[in-house]
Amino acid sequence: MAGNTLGEVFRITTWGESHGPAVGVVIDGAVSGIAVTAEDIQKELDRRKPGQSNVTTPRKESDTVEILSGIFEGRTTGAPISLMIRNADQNSSSYDNLRDTPRPGHADFGYAEKYGIRDHRGGGRSSGRETAGRVAAGAVAKKILSEFGIDIVCHTTRIGGVCADPEILNNLPFEAVKENIEKNSVRCADLAAAVLMEAEAAAARDKGDSVGGVVEGMIRGVPAGLGEPVFDKLDADLAKAIMSVGAVKGFEIGGGFEAAACFGSEFNDAFEIRDGKIKTVTNNAGGILGGISTGEMIRFRAAIKPTPSVSAPQKTVNTAEKTETEIVITGRHDPVIAPRFVPVGEAMAAIVILDHLMRNEALRLLKNKQK
Ligand SMILES: Cc1cc2nc3c(=O)[nH]c(=O)nc-3n(C[C@H](O)[C@H](O)[C@H](O)COP(=O)(O)O)c2cc1C
Repeated sequence: MAGNTLGEVFRITTWGESHGPAVGVVIDGAVSGIAVTAEDIQKELDRRKPGQSNVTTPRKESDTVEILSGIFEGRTTGAPISLMIRNADQNSSSYDNLRDTPRPGHADFGYAEKYGIRDHRGGGRSSGRETAGRVAAGAVAKKILSEFGIDIVCHTTRIGGVCADPEILNNLPFEAVKENIEKNSVRCADLAAAVLMEAEAAAARDKGDSVGGVVEGMIRGVPAGLGEPVFDKLDADLAKAIMSVGAVKGFEIGGGFEAAACFGSEFNDAFEIRDGKIKTVTNNAGGILGGISTGEMIRFRAAIKPTPSVSAPQKTVNTAEKTETEIVITGRHDPVIAPRFVPVGEAMAAIVILDHLMRNEALRLLKNKQK
């Protein structure tokens, strides 16, 4: 199995399966001397962990991080940072009926076809549990980015048919978004819409169903000049990182798909001088032009599909017997993934931005030398 690593300079490799002893991450390329404690990492893992509310899976995991290497007396040493999160509350027997029956909408069929062997207990590497390693690495990346004044927040803007009010969101300062999302279980910054979203998720759960959502990401404080202009465009790398999370089905940057309905004269962001700095009047570009950050707020959106595991009976096949059959999924599942994606999206964005910041450092040093 290839492709468990992301990044060029700040590189993360996640490992572990949903129903094995543990999941975790190895971070290569972290700079030394940065203050990172287990509490910093735990805070982010606690935002991701299951069993937090009635719109997340009731699987109970403490998700306690164990720092195996790379952090000494609360500071990064520059050595690889290895972080482990033990799995505690696996209930593997509820997956027995999945041995030869792929779940519709899940990764089972592709896995079996590709590898010929599949850990049927909870999806193995395709489980949402794999994201614990990403979030742990993201906590380290966020800590390093904070030294550069870069901050990231993701927030739910839609669950099923309920959308946050764009006007309310537009008028909310970044800090208020961060505060508001911790006040409700769906992590929506529009508090009135959050109540309706919670009801939408609960209604899906009560019917034995699930529901999709949209999460927006905002990255503040990224200087102009991050990103490479061809294959490693900053928006392309963000798209890859976000789309690499299970259940993400769409990615937009700035105006996104709405751009298709606009005229150039309205979509282009005019430049102006504000407080002595070059800024843009609007930000339809979402903070990235030509693959390179402009210094404006980076804004992206991810469409998250409804959780594939629903308890209503579904049509599938028995791959061993080559017969059609029905499946009833009994494990514990999230009725909506979007709120749990929030800390994962922040982590993925942090990892990409930090990687590009570190890649840019060589260029910056060279430019300073030439001055
Ligand atoms: C944080 C998180 C939690 C998830 N929880 C569940 C779950 O409880 N049940 C489920 O069937 N899928 C869950 N998923 C989604 C599956 O992992 C995903 O749909 C599956 O791997 C197939 O990948 P794809 O949807 O990208 O094609 C979760 C995903 C994430 C990111």
